[in-house]
This record gives sequence, structure tokens and C-alpha cells, in this order.
Amino acid sequence: MIVGVPKEVKDDEYRVAITPAGVRELTAHGHTVLVERGAGGGSSIPDEDFVRTGAMIIAEPEGIWAESDMILGVKEPVGEEYPWLGLHKGQVLFTYLHLAASRSCTDALLAAQNTAIAYETVRLPDGSLPLLTPMSEVAGRMAPFMGAHHLMRPAGGRGTLVCGVPGVECAKIVILGAGVAGMAAATLAVGMHANVYILDRNLERLRQVDHHFRGALETVASSAHAIEETCSDADLVIGAVLVVGARAPTLVPDELVARMPTGSVLVDISVDQGGCFESTRPTTHSKPTFEVEGSIFYCVANMPGAVPHSSTYALVNATLPYTLEIADRGWRDAVQADPALALGVNVVEGAVVCEPVAESHGLAFTALESLL
Ligand SMILES: NC(=O)c1ccc[n+]([C@@H]2O[C@H](COP(=O)([O-])OP(=O)(O)OC[C@H]3O[C@@H](n4cnc5c(N)ncnc54)[C@H](O)[C@@H]3O)[C@@H](O)[C@H]2O)c1
Repeated sequence: MIVGVPKEVKDDEYRVAITPAGVRELTAHGHTVLVERGAGGGSSIPDEDFVRTGAMIIAEPEGIWAESDMILGVKEPVGEEYPWLGLHKGQVLFTYLHLAASRSCTDALLAAQNTAIAYETVRLPDGSLPLLTPMSEVAGRMAPFMGAHHLMRPAGGRGTLVCGVPGVECAKIVILGAGVAGMAAATLAVGMHANVYILDRNLERLRQVDHHFRGALETVASSAHAIEETCSDADLVIGAVLVVGARAPTLVPDELVARMPTGSVLVDISVDQGGCFESTRPTTHSKPTFEVEGSIFYCVANMPGAVPHSSTYALVNATLPYTLEIADRGWRDAVQADPALALGVNVVEGAVVCEPVAESHGLAFTALESLL
């Protein structure tokens, strides 16, 4: 199979859909890998590194779209790429798609008559999303860093050193949600020697957290009362809750923020689902914070975008096994062998095969099985 990797064209997207190690795996399996010139630049991966492991560098994106049996991407195609979607008959597009949120991209894929498999809907039998997990891990691990930075006086914070010093207490960090991002945040917060509290509604989850950290943090059953009690004197609150398929619940009202110490920091990782603090609104890396009731809110919607080198490797580590399955067997065989991957298929030859996408745009839904 010819596997093509164009440079991402969406604004502020610096990741790339393959690593040199991924190129080596694909070529070892007998596939040809075409990488657009400069595609790895934003992730600090030079073209030579791809060439060294067997890729061919192509100057023009159009050539990659025209030649490749499978296109690997990071974000959904944007307008200037739509004319290229139908250039290669039978092509598979494997990328983050978020089609329920984009009618224009859905229409472009339907018109192209090809197959589109979305990273974000690949789902394992336990309900977990293996191709979203790495980004929650990145955002979760970044959150205590970003919080610690903004707690410093020059960044507008109250001037607290998270780890304290001998004779001076460390910061109190409260993490709301003990899922993937929350656990990643807790690992870093504990490593920074902060005084850490983690809250979740799911008691089984809290049992696992308690067992994992062996007393290095406090687990708390989440309730409005518990949130008030733990957050009112916190230096840093990290929001990391998710209710699948729904807007994030508002857990920290402004009235509670007003009772927190002046210069405390609130990092809302859940901002991409609406956020779990009352005054959350999405911010960008160039202007990441704003002030609410004397506290600093950090609400960057694409936190992994700040660390594209690490994020690219984290993403490709997760996608590569699926990429190899598709390349080795063809997408039809691959999805028949792997129900998790089958859930990733969103569009097949002009038909929507992902129910939520069909529902959100009022389009007809076709069962994938009927097309295999
Ligand atoms: N900002 C970014 O750049 C970025 C990057 C990656 C992920 N995210 C977002 O981070 C959020 C968390 O993702 P995740 O992968 O950790 O999800 P997850 O499903 O692994 O964990 C969410 C946790 O929240 C808990 N929860 C739900 N309601 C709660 C409540 N009322 N009180 C306490 N806990 C509650 C759940 O029990 C679960 O343990 C998502 O919204 C995700 O989209 C944001």
C-alpha cells in the first residue's frame, strides 16, 4: 500500500501523523511511505529523519493525495484540501475527524466517495477511546506545570512555589476528575511534592487511585459540598471531568472562586467540553489566561498543541498498530477483524456509517456491516 502523510494545514496545528519509527514499521511491512516536505517541521522532526527510515519526501500535497491508498492525518481536512479528497479512488483517510461538528467536512467526504476512519471514535470493548487517551495524558501532565507557572507572581499568581521549601508549606492542588487526564495530572502534582486532593463520582475509580498512589494523595468522593470544602483554600484547581457525550458539568461556581485565595489558579482541561468552572471560556496558547474574582483561569482548548514533538510521538504510538492493520489487510478485512477499529469508520463510499454523525446532520445512516 502507498501511505501518504501530508503536512497539516489547519491553523496552529504543529503535529504530524507519522514518526520516523512509524515509517520504519510501515516500510518493513512492505508499504511505501510518502511524506510531504516539511511535514514534521512543527514537531521538530526534520525530513532527513523520515528519509533515513525509508520515507520518500514529496514537495506537493496534491501529489500525495493523488498517489496514496491511505492518507494519515492529525486534524480533519480543511477547505483547501477538499478538492483532493476524491483524487484517488478507494482511498482511506485515517485522522481525527469530529464530523458531528462539521457539516462541510462531512459533505466533502461523502462527495469524495472514499472511506474515512476517525481516531476519536475507535473504541475498545471497555468503552475507552485509545486514540484520544494519549492527548488526555499530555494535557493532564501539562496541567500542574501550567498551574505552577501561573502561580508565580510575574505570571499574575499569588507567588507560591508549588513544592514549598523546608519550613514553608507546599501548594494545595485539587484535581476534579480521576480519569485519564486527572490521573496524569495527579502523577505530576505528587511528583512536584504538592499537597494533592483528587475527586471523582466513581468510587471504584477512587479505589484504584488510592491503591496506585499508596497514601501520596487524598481521594475524595465528589459532591458540591466536597468541592467547596477542598477548593476554597486551594492554590491550584485542575478541572478534568468528562461525562461522555454531554457538556461538562459546572462544578466550580464563581461564588466559590471568590472565596479562593487571591492569585490562586484554575486550569480547566475540560474546556473542550464546555468546561467545569462557571466562567470558563476557551483560550489560546498566545493568550492562555484571564482573571475571575481575583483568580487566574487557564483554559487552553488544545493544550497538547504546545508540545507538538511529544504529542506527535504519543499520538503515533497509539495510532500505528491500527495503521498497520489497515495497511496490511486493507480496511475491510481490518475492521472485520477488530471491532474497536470498526467503530472508527465514519464514512464509506458516500454513506454515513457512524450513527451520531448521521443524527447530528440529519443524514441517512447506513450500517457498516451492510457495506462489508
Ligand atoms: N484542553 C485540552 O487540550 C484537552 C486535551 C485532552 C483532553 N481534554 C479533555 O479533558 C477531559 C477529561 O478527559 P479524560 O480522558 O480524562 O476523561 P475520562 O473519562 O478518562 O475521565 C473523566 C472523569 O471525570 C469523572 N467525573 C464525571 N463527572 C464528575 C463529577 N461531577 N465530579 C467528579 N468527577 C466526575 C468521571 O467519573 C471520570 O473518572 C475531557 O473533556 C477531554 O475532552 C482536553
